[in-house]
Amino acid sequence: MRIMAFNGSPRKQKWNTVTLLENALKGAKSVGAKTELVQLYDLRFSGCISCFSCKKLSRKEDGVCAVQDDLTPVLDRVKEADALIIGSPIYYGCESASTRAFLERLLFPYNKYAKDRRSLFPRRINTAMIYTMGAPEEIAKEIGFDRMTIMTKMAMENHFGACEVLLSTDTLQFSDYDEYESEAFDKEAKIKRHAEVFPEDCRRAFELGVRMASSRVPDPESMLRSE
Ligand SMILES: Cc1cc2nc3c(=O)[nH]c(=O)nc-3n(C[C@H](O)[C@H](O)[C@H](O)COP(=O)(O)O)c2cc1C
Repeated sequence: MRIMAFNGSPRKQKWNTVTLLENALKGAKSVGAKTELVQLYDLRFSGCISCFSCKKLSRKEDGVCAVQDDLTPVLDRVKEADALIIGSPIYYGCESASTRAFLERLLFPYNKYAKDRRSLFPRRINTAMIYTMGAPEEIAKEIGFDRMTIMTKMAMENHFGACEVLLSTDTLQFSDYDEYESEAFDKEAKIKRHAEVFPEDCRRAFELGVRMASSRVPDPESMLRSE
């Protein structure tokens, strides 16, 4: 079982998104999976450039993005993966820019423009999205950040297989609130939450990783794709 995780935060070590991803991979490893963590912000790549090479009738292979950049070998490895876990901070109510670019390149080559619309990805695999955000859960819900995640979940499910979503809310933004403009936040409450609730989010991520590595997603009769 090969599990690939992707960190869509530019903060590559110790911060919220990467910590949750590392916990998910620890969970996957604990049940024998081989794991890989790809730091999206270490790679130079673009989003989809709408060249439609992946839709050409004369294409030699399905599900291949024609753009050649640092993402090319990563997308090749996805073809062999048994589960994908994508982590992103919420930036302006969406995934981070690199996560969005990655999702476009990951998903669009598997979009089939034929009548049956099945995904061109040949297998059903487990997937998960892990989101971190500064807003408290109630505010995130009120604004609709949690609804935003539904579109990505749908696209992942249509192409790959069941997609779990884990939200970690009200995250710690800085290590020292006194060094930054932060009147808008209750520093003590943030620090307390990070000490008391974030470890629970890490535990949930660990368990998500165990699930990703231990169960197979059934192949549904018909998987419509979304774009
Ligand atoms: C450019 C930018 C935009 C952000 N926009 C939002 C937002 O719309 N909603 C929110 O709840 N948090 C927002 N945040 C906070 C981050 O989502 C939050 O701190 C996240 O946990 C950071 O993840 P990291 O620690 O892995 O980098 C934003 C942060 C940055 C830097």
